[in-house]
Amino acid sequence: EGSDTPPANKWSFSGPFGKFDRGALQRGLKVYKEVCANCHGLSYVAFRNLAEAGGPGYSVAQAAAFASEYKVKDGPNDAGDMFERPGRPADYFPSPFPNEQAARAANGGAAPPDLSLITKARSYKRGFPWFVFDFFTQYQEQGPDYVAAVLQGYEEKAPEGVTIPEGSYYNKYFPGHAIKMPKPLSDGQVTFDDGAPATVAQYAKDVTTFLMWTAEPHMEARKRLGFQVFVFLIIFAGLMYFTKKKVWADSH
Ligand code: HEM
Repeated sequence: EGSDTPPANKWSFSGPFGKFDRGALQRGLKVYKEVCANCHGLSYVAFRNLAEAGGPGYSVAQAAAFASEYKVKDGPNDAGDMFERPGRPADYFPSPFPNEQAARAANGGAAPPDLSLITKARSYKRGFPWFVFDFFTQYQEQGPDYVAAVLQGYEEKAPEGVTIPEGSYYNKYFPGHAIKMPKPLSDGQVTFDDGAPATVAQYAKDVTTFLMWTAEPHMEARKRLGFQVFVFLIIFAGLMYFTKKKVWADSH
């Protein structure tokens, strides 16, 4: 309780015809790889997914090249040993810590959550009357708005009267304000090759878009099918109307 409401963003993926912005997905992947992956896993995402329709738009060869930059644990081999090899498209993103205890120990007692589904797992309750809308629309931008806000919600000094324990950081949007994730993003940290600004705001939006895709990789197909179902139902309703008129034409 007692945290600010995350500001709403204009997401390319919102609404019934929303699509992922390919550039944002590619930049967001880079932010995840260079920053977030030091602490957070992405264990439900395989490298091959990067080449699937509705995603960042890489070719199979590009996804394979990306995978090969990672070291993946494998084994046991014929000699009974575990070994490391370059990643393959079928591999999943390797996690930064071997287990939860190690993750906790390295982060002041709080394990960094796996980010695969984080945009679905985190949302916030809006106040009256908005929660009534949210109930019907399943307001799907809640999670992304929250994640983008947390990444930008750090402040050097906690406001008057708020004490933040040692090893925690003040964040406007994190419930309770004391978060154990150190401010992960700063301006200039990640270089984009498409001319997008190297700012915290840009990083936060791009990595959030990427994490929305990891959480719902088939969103575009789902929306397309949903629209087709509507078109079908409208045509079918018209057909049934004229069928009914014809069938009952002679009855009085
Ligand atoms: C928590 C995202 C980088 C350590 C979180 C949460 C999100 C997140 C969404 C959940 C907040 C919540 O529970 O509501 C990201 C993203 C990153 C990033 C997108 C890259 C831009 C990092 C880095 C570290 C880190 C580099 C380690 C130095 C943690 C820890 C928590 C956490 C320890 C748990 C915080 C707590 O429960 O108090 N992160 N993170 N994160 N993250 Fe990150």
